[in-house]
Amino acid sequence: MTAAPRHFLDICDFDSATLNGIIARARAMKNARRDWPKGRREPGEPLRGRMLALIFSRPSTRTRVSFEVGMRQLGGETLVLSSNDMQLGRGETIADTARVLSRYCDAIMIRAAHHANLTELAAAATVPVINGLTDLTHPCQVMADVMTLEEHEGPLKDQTVAWVGDGNNVTASWIHAVGRLGGRLRIGCPSEFRPSPEVLAWAGEVGADVMVTESPEEAVSGAGCVITDAWVSMHDTDGERRHNLLKPYQVNRRLMSAAARDARFMHCLPAHRGEEVTDEVMDGPASLILDEAENRLHIQKSILLHCLNADGR
Ligand code: CP
Ligand code: NVA
Repeated sequence: MTAAPRHFLDICDFDSATLNGIIARARAMKNARRDWPKGRREPGEPLRGRMLALIFSRPSTRTRVSFEVGMRQLGGETLVLSSNDMQLGRGETIADTARVLSRYCDAIMIRAAHHANLTELAAAATVPVINGLTDLTHPCQVMADVMTLEEHEGPLKDQTVAWVGDGNNVTASWIHAVGRLGGRLRIGCPSEFRPSPEVLAWAGEVGADVMVTESPEEAVSGAGCVITDAWVSMHDTDGERRHNLLKPYQVNRRLMSAAARDARFMHCLPAHRGEEVTDEVMDGPASLILDEAENRLHIQKSILLHCLNADGR
């Protein structure tokens, strides 16, 4: 019997030792290549001969480029596929697509319009599937975010993090991260845009230290890091309503001054400057946005090594 593929679908699927191991290896690979050209391959090219398919049902800059560059650095190759250009767009089932791609490729990353598309793909694929964002979660992003925060502030378990704005897919993965790795998460959002009841129930079951308030000031009080994201995510259709309700949740200098002294700022990008965050905060000394974007590369290389069982564990 062949072993089940090692998917990377959500942070909540893993124990803390596995997650910390993935982060530690990402940090080691990052440190080793500080002065190297971006295209230089890793010693030993651990994924030489491996082919990664990248399926996009939504646009992307960071996810696409970081997976493409990361796979090449590991010695492997990539195929970028837009779901609109595939027979998927004409009604071929996700399961049939998964079975066929599993015959050509060694792993599949998907940015899916619906979380159910990801789980259906993973259920039928015989190769590892990686979640590159769905309407419900964005685990690769939050693994990079945790790596970034830990580089600057130490272990997540000792941190208080504030999420301000829409309780969206990135928030859900942050809840998963705190549930598995520790730390305190304070979410400030309008009652209309709270994280889903399912993810909050999960947080309760695992004893995650997660608090939700309608007050952005209460959320950031005592937090060493303030995070926000777009008010209108790629799957949202109610843009005007969101802008009206989320306006009081803008991260600006006034809100940052209500957080802990020297609090950091994070945003997964793309940002809508002047909406969820001001230029002053985005470009200020507390901003870690470019480290977060860079760390997508390092963490995803480590995730690929985990999924393709090329990590010696
Ligand atoms: N943060 C993130 O996933 O960016 P992209 O949408 O550009 O991939
Ligand atoms: N919440 C955003 C994240 C983009 C990377 C979205 O889903 O559009």
